[in-house]
Amino acid sequence: MSRIYYIAGNWKMHKTRAEAADLARALRTQLQDGVHKYLVAPSFSALETVGPLISGSNIRLGAQNVAVEEQGAHTGEVSVLQLKDLGVQTIIVGHSERRHVYKEEDALINKKLRLALKHGFEVILCVGETLEEREAGQAEVVCESQTLWGLAGLGATDLANIVIAYEPVWAIGTGKTATPEDADAIHASIRKVIGRLYGTSAAEQLIIQYGGSVKPENVKALMAKENIDGALVGGASLKAETFAAIAKF
Ligand code: PGA
Repeated sequence: MSRIYYIAGNWKMHKTRAEAADLARALRTQLQDGVHKYLVAPSFSALETVGPLISGSNIRLGAQNVAVEEQGAHTGEVSVLQLKDLGVQTIIVGHSERRHVYKEEDALINKKLRLALKHGFEVILCVGETLEEREAGQAEVVCESQTLWGLAGLGATDLANIVIAYEPVWAIGTGKTATPEDADAIHASIRKVIGRLYGTSAAEQLIIQYGGSVKPENVKALMAKENIDGALVGGASLKAETFAAIAKF
């Protein structure tokens, strides 16, 4: 059986509804014969537009973030209940831009993750070290710690709905990609942590995506690695041609 990869596009804070609709339509067509698992995560403002356009296709609808509470006085936040209402299936938590620009900490990310699981969502938990941490030889330790914190309080059965994305902060949006060997080494260390906590079979089944300047030119070499099970794509997911080339590598 050939291996199924999970290729996700994070559109970040890009695209009006009309632009998002164009991209969603193009992807639906271009990915219809794709053999992998696919997801797009538009901005909150475009979820209602994109949802119906990919419904019934092989592309899942994702959100880039979620509020830490179910509802209440949280100006500017969007809740799990509202995301469910929009047909969202997957929620990304702990993206490095949330961690570093908006100062989200591990405990908050864990709370969001558990709330999303409670409401039946699949969750993509992002982890990754900064350049400083990598240069100090801390990459593995940082990723392991973010994984442990992110998954705190979960049981082995919860893991079926968890995906981890390893995204070295220094590789995001910079054009620099981790070498396939370096990425694979971190993926392996994350898998080891999961094995220790939840057993070998949970560790083997866990999908670990790589993210950080994934492009049509480098996707093949990354996906060839034993521990890399997919990609979380930012910049190159904004055009149908480049995302489709990655998705059908
Ligand atoms: P990039 O972003 O592909 O533009 O580097 C990846 C991400 O932040 O998910």
